[in-house]
Order: sequence, then structure tokens, then C-alpha cells
Amino acid sequence: MTTTSARPGGGIEPPPPAPAHLRVERVERRFGDVYALRDVNLSVERGQIAVIIGGSGAGKTTLLKILIGLDRPTRGAVYLDGVDLASLKDRELNEFRKKLGMVFQYSALLDSMNVLDNVAFPLREHRKLKESEVRARVSEKLRALGLPAVENRYPSELSGGMRKRVALARALMLEPEVILYDEPTSGLDPITSRRVDDMILETRDKFGVTSVVISHDMASALHIADCVHLLAEGRIVASGGPREIVHSPHPLVRQFLDSSGIAASRLVRDRP
Ligand SMILES: Nc1ncnc2c1ncn2[C@@H]1O[C@H](COP(=O)(O)OP(=O)(O)OP(=O)(O)O)[C@@H](O)[C@H]1O
Ligand SMILES: [Mg+2]
Repeated sequence: MTTTSARPGGGIEPPPPAPAHLRVERVERRFGDVYALRDVNLSVERGQIAVIIGGSGAGKTTLLKILIGLDRPTRGAVYLDGVDLASLKDRELNEFRKKLGMVFQYSALLDSMNVLDNVAFPLREHRKLKESEVRARVSEKLRALGLPAVENRYPSELSGGMRKRVALARALMLEPEVILYDEPTSGLDPITSRRVDDMILETRDKFGVTSVVISHDMASALHIADCVHLLAEGRIVASGGPREIVHSPHPLVRQFLDSSGIAASRLVRDRP
């Protein structure tokens, strides 16, 4: 639906900009004297991929915990669909969390369970469905992610890249609006890392999710991001699209680009 309206002068007023799907506003997280985050601002539009990149101790995990409502900021606010997470009571927050899917670092699959039981876990916890329906939904998701007929395998029988896909299938089971990936390429070889990047892009295209990726992998960030945010000592020190980041004069951005070891100009996906 268009929301244009006629102006008194005869012109057409443009529609107001869509509100950000996820918005972090002036977030601070302090632990005693240590500021893990200071004045962090960022917004992610619906369907976009934001990559938050930073070195060790930059504040990535702290920000991730705040985004999923596991921790609260000492100042500032996080809004999802315009709703302030801090305004929610515990039960409401639990309900709200179903809008967020999380793919943990190293996948965090339960080794004692086969793929079916791992992926079905959130459905069995939160939805009252017949077992046949649970199995059908699990198989459908696995197929959509390019993993047919792995339901009876155990995590130890899968490659790192396959485990990541299984973890993503599990995160998608409750049909979240936002997917958060914690260091999705860490511990993977470069070829598998690029496949995981493609998986993140395909998931956005197929399921229309908004994605937040926490990473220290600049090659991956430049390949998948609509917007890259560089976090250092608890602050976002540079933000921009891949092309802007590649040309940024910021010394920390340059350091990340140089240490990625590949010619930066070759890393950016061609876009229209
Ligand atoms: N519970 C806590 N108590 C005290 N300090 C903390 C706590 N959690 C994090 N910090 C501090 O906040 C800062 C940011 O930590 P955080 O774990 O968010 O970094 P990170 O970017 O995830 O690093 P890494 O890449 O090493 O995982 C660090 O200085 C850390 O020591
Ligand atoms: Mg961390």
C-alpha cells in the first residue's frame, strides 16, 4: 500500500521512512568500572543483513546478549518493531524472544540427540503439534537448507558446515523475524566459511529474515553485509556499506582489511 498524499501546493509527499526493524539506541553496558559498551547506536531495516565486527574484548558478546534479551543495558534501549525490550515483563519477553532465532558459535547442537530431535526441539517445547507434523516441518526446513535425509544422523557424523545448517534449521523452526549469528565462520576453513556466508544470504532471500551477524571475519562481512559496523572498546567507530568500508580511511578498519590478507577490492560482492 502506498502512503503518498497530496500536498496543498499540489506536490506529492513522499511516504515516511519505514521504521527500523531492530534499533539500538544509546546503549551502555557497564560492569563496575568497565564499560563493555558505550553509546552504541545502530538500526537494521527489515530484511537487511548487519554485520558487527570487532576484535577480542570489543563488546560483541555483550551486545549480542542485550539484543536477545539475556542481559539488559545500564543505559539506552533496544527496540524490536518499535517495542522497547526493557518495557517487557519476563513472560512477555519470553514470548517476544520467539521472534528472534539464534545460531550459536560452534552450532551448540546436542550430541546425544540426532538431527531430527535437535531441530525439533523448539517446536516440541513451544508448539503443541502431532509428531507427524513435527517431522514434516523438520524435513521441510532441512530440505530448504540443502540437507535432505540427515534426520537420523548424529552431530558427530556431520561436517562443520552441515552442523551450521542444522543449527540454522533449528533457529528457523519457530519462524523468527530476526536471526542472530554468533561468529558463524569461526573455526571453519575458508571454503566452508564462504559456503556459510552463502547460507546466510540464501536464508535472508528465502525466509525474508532480518539478520545480525557478530563476526571478526572481514572477508565474510564484506561479502554478506548490507551494513558493516566496526565495534572497538565498546563503541561503534565506523559504519557503512561494504564499498564504503573498503575505502574507509579509519585506521582500525584498515587494520581489519589488511589482516584479512586479500585485496579488498575483490571482496565486495557485485551489486546492481
Ligand atoms: N560479566 C562481566 N563482568 C565484568 N566484565 C565483563 C563481563 N562481561 C564482559 N566484560 C568485559 O567487557 C568487555 C567486552 O567483553 P565481550 O565479552 O563483550 O567482548 P567480545 O567482543 O565478545 O570479545 P571476544 O571476541 O574475545 O569474545 C571486556 O573488557 C570484558 O572483560
Ligand atoms: Mg565474545
